[in-house]
Amino acid sequence: MSADPTELAAVQSVLRRQRAHRSFTDEAVDEPTITDILDLATRAPSAQNTQPWEFVVVQDAERRAAIWELAARLWEMGAKDATDGKVDDHMTSDVEQAVLGGFAKAPVSVVVCADTERWPANLMDSSIWPAIQNIMTAATAHGLGSALTTIGTILVDDLRSILALPETLEPKAVIPIGHPARTLGSSRREPVGEHAHREEFGRAW
Ligand SMILES: Cc1cc2nc3c(=O)[nH]c(=O)nc-3n(C[C@H](O)[C@H](O)[C@H](O)COP(=O)(O)O)c2cc1C
Repeated sequence: MSADPTELAAVQSVLRRQRAHRSFTDEAVDEPTITDILDLATRAPSAQNTQPWEFVVVQDAERRAAIWELAARLWEMGAKDATDGKVDDHMTSDVEQAVLGGFAKAPVSVVVCADTERWPANLMDSSIWPAIQNIMTAATAHGLGSALTTIGTILVDDLRSILALPETLEPKAVIPIGHPARTLGSSRREPVGEHAHREEFGRAW
């Protein structure tokens, strides 16, 4: 089977455009789109096809605000200090405006939870992050912006209570989804040659 050039170009474009969006308009995201994004998330692999994901889709403005208030609290409690000096000032202020309000403005926040009754918690990561990545890829393909965040999951008891999560579900990521307020270009990454090796580590690609 040979590659379909149109399909290949579409996938290349989506993967290169998939970025962390931190500013959103108020425009709603319709339900069929959200459902399709979640369906595409479930196309991800998981160990033994256990599909240990649960997606809590939060659209209510008050509940969204409550979730993102947890991220804002974490930011002020130390995440901001941990970021300082590690990324440039522009990114720090972009992240800050997002955590303090930009993310809450997105009309949808998807909280991805891992079901520890389906797969052991200590082996969970590799079975949940592919689905999380699919959400962002699918959102990009739908012309939407999204961002992978974990900061809102750290105050886990508060998040559990906002979302009525049972103890068996571990929240892993909070992904805002909405129409981007700004157009971002392609992602900037170090060249593949700096990270790829031919047959053994250290032999240039
Ligand atoms: C585990 C993880 C946690 C992240 N948490 C945040 C976050 O709390 N706030 C944020 O603005 N971006 C967050 N990001 C997004 C990264 O900052 C972003 O993917 C990276 O800087 C690359 O930028 P790009 O997506 O624009 O290419 C997170 C990414 C990962 C993988």
